[in-house]
Amino acid sequence: METNSACRVVVLIGGNGSNLQALIDDTRQHNRSYSIVGVISHRPDAYGLIRAQNASIATTVVDHRQYDAQAFESALLDAVKAYSPTLIVMAGFMRILTAEFVDQFPTQILNIHPSLLPKFRGLHTHQRALEAGETEHGVSVHYVTKELDGGPIIAQIKVPVLPDDEVDTLKDRVFTAEHWLYPQVVEWYAQKRLKCVENIVTLDGERLGPLGLQLTLPTVRSNANL
Ligand code: GRF
Repeated sequence: METNSACRVVVLIGGNGSNLQALIDDTRQHNRSYSIVGVISHRPDAYGLIRAQNASIATTVVDHRQYDAQAFESALLDAVKAYSPTLIVMAGFMRILTAEFVDQFPTQILNIHPSLLPKFRGLHTHQRALEAGETEHGVSVHYVTKELDGGPIIAQIKVPVLPDDEVDTLKDRVFTAEHWLYPQVVEWYAQKRLKCVENIVTLDGERLGPLGLQLTLPTVRSNANL
């Protein structure tokens, strides 16, 4: 019989770790079907490591500057496997995973990306959205495949781009959506409600469209400052 903590989540980070904090807070505030069993950072100075330690979560550093690309991924693979994860959650992990790595964990890796994919894959999404004159921007959670920011999309939240927005104001608005969305999707995964077969995503057996579920942010919650 499965316990409430049946889904073992490893979070991969590289920086501030506000999405990690949102997941930690979510498991504290709700009776969730997942637990965070480990946090792995590719940077030793990532603030997210302190957040994990404050929550008594085991941490591992695989410093990308200490390895060549192949050795880094091999060390990362060892670090991930040591936690025997059910699910790998990428949250600000700024290294690209190769097909060899991803193939070891089919449909077991999620990523959060601060844009309405397929728009603005890669970096500097808020700046690019502003430069493109977008009136809407947002966040996507998707399965990770070997294609950068190109795996099947599970869910998105749109936020408005306001006339006087700058990168930081837009980023904060997107972060509020990120911090709400990621725990939600991880919980669906943990409850086995989410499936991905041959790049087709279903939730509770219902096939999702190519952009995933289009969700609205509850207005009651704002935690962009995590
Ligand atoms: C977030 O914007 C996330 O969408 C992207 O990297 C950023 C990580 O932020 N993948 P944080 O470390 O979770 O605060």
